[in-house]
Amino acid sequence: MSERMKNKAWSVQGKYVLITGATSGIGLAAAKELAIRGADLGIVARSQVKANETAEKLRTLTGGNTKVDVFLADLTDQRSIRRVASEILARCPRIDVLINNAGAMFVKRILTKDGMEKTWAVNHLAPFLLTTLLLDRIRMSGEARIITTSSHGHKMAKKGIAFDDLTAMKRYSFPQVLMGGANFRYGETKLANILFTTELARLLEGTGVVANCLDPGLVATNFNQGNGMLARMTMAVMKRFSRTPEKGAETLVWLADSNEINGESGRYYFDMKEAIPTAPASSREAARKLWEVSESQTRNSSI
Ligand SMILES: NC(=O)c1ccc[n+]([C@@H]2O[C@H](COP(=O)([O-])OP(=O)(O)OC[C@H]3O[C@@H](n4cnc5c(N)ncnc54)[C@H](OP(=O)(O)O)[C@@H]3O)[C@@H](O)[C@H]2O)c1
Repeated sequence: MSERMKNKAWSVQGKYVLITGATSGIGLAAAKELAIRGADLGIVARSQVKANETAEKLRTLTGGNTKVDVFLADLTDQRSIRRVASEILARCPRIDVLINNAGAMFVKRILTKDGMEKTWAVNHLAPFLLTTLLLDRIRMSGEARIITTSSHGHKMAKKGIAFDDLTAMKRYSFPQVLMGGANFRYGETKLANILFTTELARLLEGTGVVANCLDPGLVATNFNQGNGMLARMTMAVMKRFSRTPEKGAETLVWLADSNEINGESGRYYFDMKEAIPTAPASSREAARKLWEVSESQTRNSSI
């Protein structure tokens, strides 16, 4: 990091922050805090009703001082992501911070309209496609930040990304499915968030745009509520050991707002400190390979 960047003041006040997954949990808590700190917000959500309610909450919180734009997209659907990216480019002259936070897990193997496994589509391909489609605009904003919500769950993918099983046939088939295949699949997508950040940071070197990711910890949110009774019961038990969404959002807000991380890029954070991800998450070769695979799966190469 250059001394010039280190000493330059940065905060989200007056900046435009685009965030996915702000209608619930960690994203909602982060959006509230960023609004309080003076950011203007663009929220990308799949439900018009929830998006409007969230926008209203954010405006009320700051006595009407926060500008909140609503963008609608189903992040499992690449056509929907392309459409929303065009709309964002038409409506937003600058994007100072992009936060890829939306995420989910599916206990059953579901293929999307694009033929991708759904957990992979929403957790990894959506951040990849949205970011690369918006990248020129983000770069034009001068100094900017791209932040992606990963997870300690990446540790489950001990052998790295199964590039020979991208649609997770094996993960969701006997016997792997009985041994928690869906959880391991989720772990792979969160590992992909780290590798995506590594390669993005490398490609953006020297541009003034930094890319970082984080583990929010175990957080009491709506996560994993759509996977049946057993998953809901498990989450209810885990809630006892979970942090609040506000605590879970702390590192995300810090990465967006803090002057301390000026110039730092390609890193993984937990509790506002750099953390060391697993060996598979530190492989530059895997990061490059993932980038190529993602370009091919989204038919998008914008760098
Ligand atoms: N909770 C944890 O313990 C934990 C731990 C580590 C990492 N994380 C990560 O934190 C991030 C946020 O999760 P959370 O815990 O806050 O869960 P959450 O309360 O379920 O929030 C998830 C957000 O993502 C949105 N979303 C999901 N699928 C979408 C789609 N297809 N299109 C558009 N938006 C979609 C949801 O929209 P709706 O409101 O419409 O459902 C919601 O706003 C995820 O990336 C997750 O992997 C969570």
